[in-house]
Amino acid sequence: MLRAIQETVEYIRIKTENFKPEVGIILGTGLGDLVNSIEIKYQLMYSNIPNFPISTLEFHSGKLIFGTLNGKNIVAMQGRLHYYEGYSMQQITFPIRVMKGLGIENLFVSNAAGSLNPNFKKGDLMIISDHINLQPDNPLRGLNESELGPRFPDMSEPYKRSIIKKAITVAKNVDVVCHKGVYVAVTGPNLETKAEYKYLRLIGADAVGMSTVPEVIVANHAGIPVFALSVLTDEGFAEDLQPFSLTDILATAAKAEPKMTEILTRLIATL
Ligand code: HPA
Repeated sequence: MLRAIQETVEYIRIKTENFKPEVGIILGTGLGDLVNSIEIKYQLMYSNIPNFPISTLEFHSGKLIFGTLNGKNIVAMQGRLHYYEGYSMQQITFPIRVMKGLGIENLFVSNAAGSLNPNFKKGDLMIISDHINLQPDNPLRGLNESELGPRFPDMSEPYKRSIIKKAITVAKNVDVVCHKGVYVAVTGPNLETKAEYKYLRLIGADAVGMSTVPEVIVANHAGIPVFALSVLTDEGFAEDLQPFSLTDILATAAKAEPKMTEILTRLIATL
């Protein structure tokens, strides 16, 4: 693994003329538009990057983008990888290792999630303050490479409190409703049954999704502070569950996206 990371980092350094990103950004389902706010310097297709897994979803375009966002050097993953696509947890989180190797000091993550909290409505944003991992695997399972991080990484602050504080201020300043809550990660790809939504709410989650947690675990292992923002694309309220589809999720994500872009763009300047 160390050799693969090194090889990929070297390839990218050559292709990007030693561009040094300060912040890594993972763009979630239907949330790729932030890219339009980036002053792009280099773009690499995942399929051309050695050792990089290729996104199998047609609505995830699979590009690594280098440039500046509000004055900060960033690397953005347009097209994230999900466990339900069949990748291993190690594959999903490989890009985090590579971004760390390229020098990122913070990681921003976005995702689409279903609301479980009756006060958090479809189309609202939610800052992730903590998570519950219900995915059946862990990216750190197996031999620990001590060069990458400790065997038993601390998870008392998986989402950096100081960045959350700044994000709340930013959201207030631009008058955007931005909740704070617990994200639970499931495997998917099916959405939840009524009984499952009820259960996920009962165990303490405010939103449910199929991503983010593996990347956040690896970022914490690597000592990278994380900030994560969910767009709530549907309401998993068990009492009155309405059928919905990926089309609905994407439409809601697209509608809420400008708010998310504004917050992330302003937040990045405060780091
Ligand atoms: N459940 C799981 N994942 C999701 C949902 C949901 O309701 N909405 C968006 N991603």
